[in-house]
Amino acid sequence: MARAVAPRRTSRDDIPVARRARPERRRSGGGSGVWIACVLVFGGSLGTVLFGPSLLARLSPPSVVVEGIEETPSTDGRLLGHFPYPEASVTELVSVEPGIELHTDAASAFRALQQAAAADGVDLRLLSGYRSHALQKGIFFDVKSERNQTASERAKVSAPPGYSEHSTGFAMDLGDGDAPGTNLSQSFETTRAFRWLQDHAASYHFVLSFPPSNPQGVSYEPWHWRFEGSAEALRRFEPARQLAQTL
Ligand code: DAL
Ligand code: ZN
Repeated sequence: MARAVAPRRTSRDDIPVARRARPERRRSGGGSGVWIACVLVFGGSLGTVLFGPSLLARLSPPSVVVEGIEETPSTDGRLLGHFPYPEASVTELVSVEPGIELHTDAASAFRALQQAAAADGVDLRLLSGYRSHALQKGIFFDVKSERNQTASERAKVSAPPGYSEHSTGFAMDLGDGDAPGTNLSQSFETTRAFRWLQDHAASYHFVLSFPPSNPQGVSYEPWHWRFEGSAEALRRFEPARQLAQTL
């Protein structure tokens, strides 16, 4: 999926004189250019120091305090490592499997992904897609209570309500139809389906959200992939993408 990019020329001296569209400037004025460059570099660095921490917060939708969780969102909007996500609207959702919906853009990309996998003899199964905030609330708190976990322990494997990528309709949990025992388990990484995804998911704009040692501090989830192939999806996941790039 990575496209080869031609190296950028950094100097006008790389361009033969006869081919330059504009004549060379007189060198005597070059000093002011150096000063302007210094001011821009210094100003940029200062801006990053002063405003960098709030950049992620400005990219994120408003974070919310969750009833039942003592911790409050941090300055970048995250709660216990998870970024806030709005719910997809009903009109954006389409049924892909009985009881499983995805955002329409993610749904068509998933169907193409599944067909390509099938052509290679891989039985890719959709296990989970869109989840309302209300459903996520049940998943978070019911299991937390069953397992007698703290919110922080629970958040390692499940997002608090209002903070799950699944609520956007762009995230999905995948399984291997030939190895159902690995569903939603880290052993999914040993399946043919996972190896196939590693090689092909990016071509369909799917990204592994929680790789090992991810900067959000969420447990490794080889089954959880998010779609980043539309402007809206990219906007939704921009804070998570930015955080991943800073480390
Ligand atoms: N399991 C992922 C983190 C979620 O609940 O969204
Ligand atoms: Zn998931």
